[in-house]
Amino acid sequence: MSPLPQTAPVITIDGPSGSGKGTISRAVARALGWHFLDSGALYRAVGVAAVRSGADLADEQALARLALDADIRFEDRIDSEPHVWLGEGDISADIRTEEAGQAASKVAAQPAVRAALLAKQRAFQVAPGLVADGRDMGTIVFPEAELKVFLTASAAERARRRHKQLSEKGITAILPALLREIEERDLRDRTRSVAPLVPAHDARTIDSTTQSIDDVVAIVFAWAAPLKR
Ligand code: DC
Repeated sequence: MSPLPQTAPVITIDGPSGSGKGTISRAVARALGWHFLDSGALYRAVGVAAVRSGADLADEQALARLALDADIRFEDRIDSEPHVWLGEGDISADIRTEEAGQAASKVAAQPAVRAALLAKQRAFQVAPGLVADGRDMGTIVFPEAELKVFLTASAAERARRRHKQLSEKGITAILPALLREIEERDLRDRTRSVAPLVPAHDARTIDSTTQSIDDVVAIVFAWAAPLKR
């Protein structure tokens, strides 16, 4: 008799942008030696592909076809954001702009786009394990995850962090405008009918407003310790 296939364990880390989940998820994945899924980068890549192809960001079926067919490739980098290609073009920097974030939020509101991306995201669940970062990792994509974390921080603190991150990359941004964009995006992400940004019923919540990245990583790592095989 062949043994049952081993399913790799999953840790989901969901929360709004700027909550620190990208940095924290990557640090936890690195510490465990596990794979890492930045699902926001996937939505951002579809957003960039949609804008470049001139697609109507409200045309659900056209966007879903694009999500299935676009030649989007990821190169997982545990030490930095993933490298992302659209066809032959490296779009790693393009997907990080505020414009790409807004486009991602619009395409992500389309149920057919989310359905089209489900299998692509689940394909990341391979041994020895996966840390998945997003909005609906614990609720929809990996509902059976062994550990679910929901990370929050105040909108003002998230805007401040985003401003710092952008200026480190040499990108000029205006703090009040960033705050407004974050609040708009939060509202859209929380109130959309499909996969709204809400904690899974079995998620553990951490508010990172006044905690350092290292403190939060230490908390998640302690929770994750029993999952190491
Ligand atoms: O995490 P981020 O800022 O890179 O995400 C970009 C957008 O994609 C954000 O508006 C929400 C959306 N998103 C989503 O709907 N579901 C996910 N699992 C990840 C991101």
